[in-house]
Amino acid sequence: MSAASLSGRRILVSAGPTYEDIDPVRFLGNRSSGKMGFAIAAAAARRGAQVLLVAGPVSLPTPEGVERIDVRSAAEMHRAVMDALPVDVYIGAAAVADFTPAQVVGDKIKKRPGEEGLVLELVRTRDILAEVASHARRPSLVIGFAAETSHVEEYARGKLERKKLDLICANRVGVPGSGFECDDNTLLVYGAGFEQVLGPASKAELADALLDLVAAR
Ligand code: C5P
Repeated sequence: MSAASLSGRRILVSAGPTYEDIDPVRFLGNRSSGKMGFAIAAAAARRGAQVLLVAGPVSLPTPEGVERIDVRSAAEMHRAVMDALPVDVYIGAAAVADFTPAQVVGDKIKKRPGEEGLVLELVRTRDILAEVASHARRPSLVIGFAAETSHVEEYARGKLERKKLDLICANRVGVPGSGFECDDNTLLVYGAGFEQVLGPASKAELADALLDLVAAR
């Protein structure tokens, strides 16, 4: 069976972690590899979609037929995503930092004799996914991801409603063979009155299964 076509559709995908700079040599990051988002972008391009991939700092090759914009911080990712609107579909697969240092120090932070601790002040970042879903030029389909260590369905459905998404793909992190930094995963996809388990399968197969749901909508 051939995959459903997405020819002519504009699909925007965010992928990877963000790095929030503390000083010129240190940052706050996370363990997202970017593989899921890159697999989605690759699969969408294979189906004929016009794909823009906004990528955080990852060492992955650009999938064939995909236009890529590299960003570093949550603020840069926010700007790149907003600038790319309007699109038909937004898939937010990036692990965006929820907090960023209140200020970036220009000089490397030094430890002083007798100083036993350091307090770092963090402020909330903007929620890119929620802003896209509430935007005047809202894509027809807005899909988010949720990495959870427990209460997976409850937390994922909470995000689905709070952020006004069409679908949310939840995955269990902190267990072997699922989530960050691995090739295989299981996605629990929730929507209003909708639930489907995709996998366990490779991230490439999951990307195709997810795009089948996209094409069906
Ligand atoms: O609330 P939480 O961070 O768990 O939600 C995860 C989803 O929200 C992911 O799809 C992620 O890309 C998106 N997100 C975002 N901007 C943020 C935080 C999360 O787009 N600042």
